[in-house]
Amino acid sequence: MSAPTPSRLHELSPEEQIAYGQLDPNRIPQHVAIIMDGNGRWAGKRALKRFLGHQKGAESVQFVVETASRINLPWITLYAFSIENNLRRPKSEVNFLMKLLKSYLIGNVERMNANNVRMAYIGRTHDLPAEVQETMQWASEATARNTGTTLTLALNYGARSEIVDAVRKILTELAAEAHARKCSVEDLLGSGALDQIDEREITRSLYTAHMPDPDLVIRTSGEQRISNFLLWQIAYAEFLVTDRLWPDFNGLHLLEAIAEYQRRDRRYGGLTQNATDETFDGLQPVEEIASELLRR
Ligand code: FPP
Repeated sequence: MSAPTPSRLHELSPEEQIAYGQLDPNRIPQHVAIIMDGNGRWAGKRALKRFLGHQKGAESVQFVVETASRINLPWITLYAFSIENNLRRPKSEVNFLMKLLKSYLIGNVERMNANNVRMAYIGRTHDLPAEVQETMQWASEATARNTGTTLTLALNYGARSEIVDAVRKILTELAAEAHARKCSVEDLLGSGALDQIDEREITRSLYTAHMPDPDLVIRTSGEQRISNFLLWQIAYAEFLVTDRLWPDFNGLHLLEAIAEYQRRDRRYGGLTQNATDETFDGLQPVEEIASELLRR
């Protein structure tokens, strides 16, 4: 049996310790996903160039990840660069973001190891510049043995293209199986393979197959949209929008978001936990309610 992970709560700042003290330690989310927005606005408010907003945003990434690791949050996924960012932003900004990512990884691997953080990525990362991919691989290998928080960066990521990739994967596997069995794909589908394509199979084929669905999605800077982030996985996540711009977001704000999450009543399409059959036994019969409504 492996030894229990020693608590690192004493490493939280005094303000974070107070905020953590108000949380239910048994209901810390397993997975928090964050849409980091507002770097440009943060810079604009200070009459600075956009790239300085991104640079400050990279510092927030590290603060938030380290707090997550201190409270033993198992999974944190950050939307760092979308496919749409790649296609629709000026080349100069994309190039800057790529350089920033590379220097962020090189500059922080040691801190990731000190915080027991494992690094991973999701997205069409094979379309990123080769030298960025090399650094990404180096960082994930250098942190692969860590057993604390897994930090997943969504890079060149889009949820719709993730679903497209999942469908392609399923079809490719199906074609390979038909080939191995020396039959046609049609024969396979007819002999039960179609029924095997269910929600579990889609989940298994996504980039996130190895992780639990996010419990909490946070979006900074006030925009109330999902922007093509983890569409399949967030079906039952709690969604929290804060007006705070990403470069102003830190570990304390993560803990405040978790406090708000703990105040929510998650029902997954069911009823509140306290509802039992008895809750309904005392209710007026439906026929009576219907005829009362008709009389009105
Ligand atoms: C949105 O700000 C943020 C991004 C486009 C990418 C997020 C990037 C970072 C946080 C910095 C780098 C990250 C790592 C992991 C090194 P925006 O430019 O859309 O802001 P705006 O909506 O105010 O213009």
